[in-house]
Amino acid sequence: SQKMVKICCIGAGYVGGPTMAVIALKCPAIEVVVVDISKPRIDAWNSDQLPIYEPGLDEVVKECRGRNLFFSTDVEKHVAEADIIFVSVNTPTKTRGLGAGKAADLTYWESAARMIADVSKSDKIVVEKSTVPVKTAEAIEKILTHNSKGINYQILSNPEFLAEGTAIKDLFKPDRVLIGGRETPEGKKAVQALKEEVYAHWVPEDRIITTNLWSAELSKLAANAFLAQRISSVNAISALCEATGANVSEVAYAVGKDTRIGPKFLNASVGFGGSCFQKDILNLVYICECNGLPEVANYWKQVIKINDYQKSRFVNRVVSSMFNTVSGKKIAILGFAFKKDTGDTRETPAIDVCHGLLGDKAQISIYDPQVTEDQIQRDLSMGKFDWDHPRHLQPTSPTAFKQVSVVWDAYEATKGAHGLCILTEWDEFKTLDYQRIFDNMQKPAFVFDGRNVVDPEKLREIGFIVYSIGKPLDAWLKDMPAVA
Ligand code: NAI
Repeated sequence: SQKMVKICCIGAGYVGGPTMAVIALKCPAIEVVVVDISKPRIDAWNSDQLPIYEPGLDEVVKECRGRNLFFSTDVEKHVAEADIIFVSVNTPTKTRGLGAGKAADLTYWESAARMIADVSKSDKIVVEKSTVPVKTAEAIEKILTHNSKGINYQILSNPEFLAEGTAIKDLFKPDRVLIGGRETPEGKKAVQALKEEVYAHWVPEDRIITTNLWSAELSKLAANAFLAQRISSVNAISALCEATGANVSEVAYAVGKDTRIGPKFLNASVGFGGSCFQKDILNLVYICECNGLPEVANYWKQVIKINDYQKSRFVNRVVSSMFNTVSGKKIAILGFAFKKDTGDTRETPAIDVCHGLLGDKAQISIYDPQVTEDQIQRDLSMGKFDWDHPRHLQPTSPTAFKQVSVVWDAYEATKGAHGLCILTEWDEFKTLDYQRIFDNMQKPAFVFDGRNVVDPEKLREIGFIVYSIGKPLDAWLKDMPAVA
């Protein structure tokens, strides 16, 4: 088409920011405006210090910002002017009311939809970018058409599959782009428009999948459930490895060689985190329950239960190895983000591990290359949310603050410590001077590697007592079995 397409994206977060930056880069003839109600976020997108850390993002933003990529708080103006509106607002788990602890909270989505209906004066394609419960498009459609003033809306589902830490790479070369729409002539036209005017500019045709709306919405929930399930599967096996003397890395390698299974996403760890896996599975579980499918709900719920088990197993291992108490002992925490190459701490297993250690009165000293002290203190001061009893937020004791320090160097964190826990797989933790760390620690000195980043044999040669997830145990640890 000849006319300049205008895109507006509501929500300048981990998804909205990077996806729109890449669309602007790959489609120079499209004007892309990312809007958000948060002024600090928009100010940060317009500065040299972007609000999120993501490898390669700075370069893309630098190239397009001010050319055909803009960040603004003037939500209504840009929504009114746009042909295509992406909605990538957050969709957290509801914390109160009906479905609390499981259902998706669509408050932000609904208010975005009502605002679109209020300000629109021309036909719009509204694209669900956020991960939403299956059938959300129907609700959005109702809000829009009941307030439409004669304007024609087409709702598309275009869930985002990028992973934090590799967002730019994933967006440049996606495994697939999924677009769902109504199976009417107008719906099909809208699907084609999003495909041809946007994605076809850089994504090969055979990677752009078009489906009906409900398949697209459900595929995103299903994909996250499958990914998380692989982690819980290998983590479940890791517990058995420790009990039997098998090595989970060897097992995962041997299993993953089967082309039907594949090698990716089979690393045993202290557990998965991030804003999506838990929330999306809980949501899937809730939808199953609402549709009268309790067996299916329980099946997926187990993925989360194993993840919780893995985190508490890790804490129990730490405490039991250190003579069943960490009270008053300094424990260094290396890594707080939920995975490497991101500063995101949402649902990071580090929060639960730290809570566990604090509960046993440890002194913890935390180092993460990308997470600020403010963020860590905020994360740890929030009570753990109890999914089965959402009304009861467990309060954190006020003394917790005094038990936590945040430092800017791994050597500082480990100085004088009795043990160190690696909770994020940052590359720099592989090449630390562990001899120097050992020399400055209390003895016996313990390493609890929750991400299998260190070579346990090398560290044992230095003198450490080493626990690596799913690896054969030191004699020391065998004598002090962890009870989960
Ligand atoms: P986020 O919390 O980083 O960003 C959401 C943004 O929306 C916030 O900046 C918020 O201020 C803004 N917002 C909320 N209501 C608004 C409104 N009415 N008008 C304007 N702005 C509004 O969330 P994130 O991580 O970007 O996730 C967004 C969605 O994408 C979620 O549904 C998530 O499940 C999904 N997703 C996230 C992925 C990730 O890796 N973070 C990957 C794939 C999907």
